[in-house]
Amino acid sequence: MRLKIASLLSDEGQSQIGQEGHVYGWVRTVRDQKAFAFIEVNDGSSLASLQLVFANTSDQYATILQEISTGCSIKAHGTFVTSQGKNQKIEMQVTQIEVIGTCDAETYPLQKKRHSFEFLRTIAHLRPRTNSLGAVTRVRNALSFATHCFFQERGFFYIQTPIITASDAEGAGKMFRVTTLDEKKPQDKTDFFGKPTFLTVSGQLNGEAYACAMSDIYTFGPTFRAENSNTSRHLAEFWMIEPEMAFADLLDNQECAEQYLKYVVKYVLDHCPEDMRFFDQFIEKGIIERLQLVVDTPFERVTYTEAIKWLEKSNKKFEFPHHWGVDLQSEHERYLSEELFKKPVILTDYPKDIKAFYMRANDDGKTVAAMDVLVPKIGELLGGSQREERLSVLEDKISLMGLDKESYWWYLQLRQYGSVPHSGFGVGFERLVQFTTGMENIRDVIPFPRYPGNADF
Ligand code: 4AD
Ligand code: MG
Repeated sequence: MRLKIASLLSDEGQSQIGQEGHVYGWVRTVRDQKAFAFIEVNDGSSLASLQLVFANTSDQYATILQEISTGCSIKAHGTFVTSQGKNQKIEMQVTQIEVIGTCDAETYPLQKKRHSFEFLRTIAHLRPRTNSLGAVTRVRNALSFATHCFFQERGFFYIQTPIITASDAEGAGKMFRVTTLDEKKPQDKTDFFGKPTFLTVSGQLNGEAYACAMSDIYTFGPTFRAENSNTSRHLAEFWMIEPEMAFADLLDNQECAEQYLKYVVKYVLDHCPEDMRFFDQFIEKGIIERLQLVVDTPFERVTYTEAIKWLEKSNKKFEFPHHWGVDLQSEHERYLSEELFKKPVILTDYPKDIKAFYMRANDDGKTVAAMDVLVPKIGELLGGSQREERLSVLEDKISLMGLDKESYWWYLQLRQYGSVPHSGFGVGFERLVQFTTGMENIRDVIPFPRYPGNADF
């Protein structure tokens, strides 16, 4: 029977002691001690590898040891025994090894034990074989599963919104054009969809249509931004989770966002203890304690106007201005969550001029019912709002912002036929993975990152 290494190394794995079985995987290290060889094999199911003890008792020994090297793939058959070593509970006494794919030790790029993340980005096809990228991959998987659990348990419907779109959800440019027009055939004037189309920046507007029928929905899909941001928190292609709730105001929205973040972080702490210990030891000291605090303590809630006052009081030298009316920069967001409150902060009621057209106007005439959740190290982790459900107010806003009213005709109809107060938010999934793992650069928490100048692999 084939066994995954994670299950062998778990408590249930103890039942395999004395049993025969086989494992598949990639060799991490080989130590030939003449009477025995110790082979570490990893199959991606866990951070830890399984130790194989291969006794020098057959003709096979010399041939296999010549063939076997770091990176090669093998099938090992044998008996599981209690490990003598202190690092693991179980190991395999090998009776037979089959080398499935050899690996040239001279050229294999992962020969060394440690590599910089910059270097690993140049071998994105091989980097999941490293401890750190393997751990990131398992935590990313857990976060995505926990996301579905959270919303499904609460009766939200998962809906798939289009990737190709003609409308600009954020009303702020920065989109990738999608076209079949061939620049070599300028006489050909009809584009595939008969109008300019783009890769979506957000599934929200389509999501709203479904919330205004199904009550509670969420999307979880890729989104695209053509902004030229070479930062550790921006990608040109990233994944976003966008819940949308009908009959819900900004307070309900804040509550949902806080519960969601607590739920998924707790899920990772509960289900990925080995990977989290790895991050705590090698990536960000104290991250487990920091995340436990996120789960256990209420988030801070402050309005934008109050936040500006806090920034003024701080007497800190910031690079960017922070007077009422300007958009907050990452340095301000991080000051608030990292230094001042030392926990996630929900910032609400931003000036209307710095936020998207669809956000609901507050009675003060100056602010909108917006919210951002700011977290230590990252800054903005998610952003959302109550949506403008009043038809005439929304129409005025669209004209005022110089947007094309015609292209939003269906979005406006949602306000004409059975309009309801509704709210939602968008979580940057990669920022969530960064927040949960402590990884410094967003390019290292998505399998194949897309950023200016890079679409390799
Ligand atoms: O704040 P944003 O632009 O909000 C929206 O798109 C809304 N339609 C969401 C909604 O209300 N349904 O983006 C949401 C989140 C940000 O808070 C950030 O975490 C992430 O998406 N994000 C990015 N992540 C990686 N790379 C980028 N270029 C990102 N731009 C935004
Ligand atoms: Mg935002």
